[in-house]
Amino acid sequence: MNESTKIIREDRCPGTTYTDMLEADTRTPPDYLFEETVAEMPTDPLPIAPYISEEFAALEREKMWPNVWLFAAREDEMPETGDTVVFDLNEKSFLLVRQKDGSVKAFYNVCLHRGRKLRTKAGNTTQLICPFHGFAWKNDGSLKDIPCSWDFTHLDDKDMSLPEVRVELWQGFVMITENPDLPDFKTWLGPAASHYEKYDFENRYTGMWVAKRIDANWKATAEAFMEAWHSVTTHPQLLPFLGDANTRYDHIGDHFNRAITPSGVLSPHLKGKDQQYVLDKMNEFSGGSDGETNRRFAAGSMDESLDPDDPMLARKVLAEASRKGFTEQYGRDYSEASDTELLDNFTYNIFPNFSPWIGYLPTLVYRWLPGDTPDWCVMEIRLLFPVKEGEERPRAVERTYIPDDEPFAWANDKMGEQLANVFDQDMANLPFVQEGMKSSANGVMELGAYQDSRVRHFQTTLMKYIDGELPAKS
Ligand code: FES
Ligand SMILES: [Fe+2]
Repeated sequence: MNESTKIIREDRCPGTTYTDMLEADTRTPPDYLFEETVAEMPTDPLPIAPYISEEFAALEREKMWPNVWLFAAREDEMPETGDTVVFDLNEKSFLLVRQKDGSVKAFYNVCLHRGRKLRTKAGNTTQLICPFHGFAWKNDGSLKDIPCSWDFTHLDDKDMSLPEVRVELWQGFVMITENPDLPDFKTWLGPAASHYEKYDFENRYTGMWVAKRIDANWKATAEAFMEAWHSVTTHPQLLPFLGDANTRYDHIGDHFNRAITPSGVLSPHLKGKDQQYVLDKMNEFSGGSDGETNRRFAAGSMDESLDPDDPMLARKVLAEASRKGFTEQYGRDYSEASDTELLDNFTYNIFPNFSPWIGYLPTLVYRWLPGDTPDWCVMEIRLLFPVKEGEERPRAVERTYIPDDEPFAWANDKMGEQLANVFDQDMANLPFVQEGMKSSANGVMELGAYQDSRVRHFQTTLMKYIDGELPAKS
């Protein structure tokens, strides 16, 4: 351990911890929420160059992106045989095709004749035909037809099947990798893969999906969602019902880290407010009881039999309201669902650019896609909704691309006004993070030992790829 190394656990914000809240839960939360990582992390500054340098972006393209598992699509985007999805990342394009047997194949989205992209849009098809000269492949990637075949007799004995990349279906997510030697996705991810199992993610569907260009590096943008402690200055309207300073930060293995931020509690930054205040503010944020379709939280009201001095009272009331509300809405049994799984913010990140939350709430899923310079990226936000018991999973909604000069509020009708506002508040920082970094006198940034620990963990893993320590050779 060098001099600048500390046990980050000692640096916790004073006050109630998330684990204390788990102990006070009205149900027994799953073990994996109790597990805290006590990681030893250095506290030395991190370099800014990876966020602003073209050379570093080229290293990421060479050493990292082809060597990780990537979230390419949701299965609900391509439920039927012959459905396709085009997944573009950096300068590469992948074509995902649903097969007759229900599996998904992924091909490099390029014609083997003179290199045109085979498809540019999602859609259903019975063959993969190139719009340039008409080379055609079956949906399983085997060659179907070469026009003017007399001119290609030299290819007669050659395998002209479309080259594939690896695919795994996990919890309704279509994961791909170009690296043939990586372990299977669940092994690669580690224990967090099992955290999704009880929430039936396979049967969820994309009910809200927006994307927007952000004028900041993809890593700076992703990192703005790895900690809750910017809430006190960036999202002050959340403090009446958000335990920002109670947040737990964990990192498990190289490819996973999480923040768990409790809802339905007064922020430790606010004092002298009672539980009714917390409840009123949370109800206001969640849209009251007006039945707005994208409302993530159920509205609750105080019962006089409850102890008004219980600091967890609002949580209990809100969780119980959600148990009832979700049961009505989705026809499933939530009686054993713990308060935390009904209320809290599980910002789970899977390296490098994928953040699928867990829990019983309609869950947020983020994905960050790098731009063609280090100075911008696209951020996508989805909400995955449970399917009503006995009903078929609906197809994913189409992605709505918010015009570059419009805020997230432009999509208020899809996201809900309160949620869109939170993202706009984040975006009010990000372009200025990118600009500010370029003015840095010393070329480094200083991180909080605990609350910024996920940023450090993420950067540490990234550097392992750049330095060739990862992917591990099998
Ligand atoms: S480039 Fe595809 S058929 Fe010519
Ligand atoms: Fe934020």
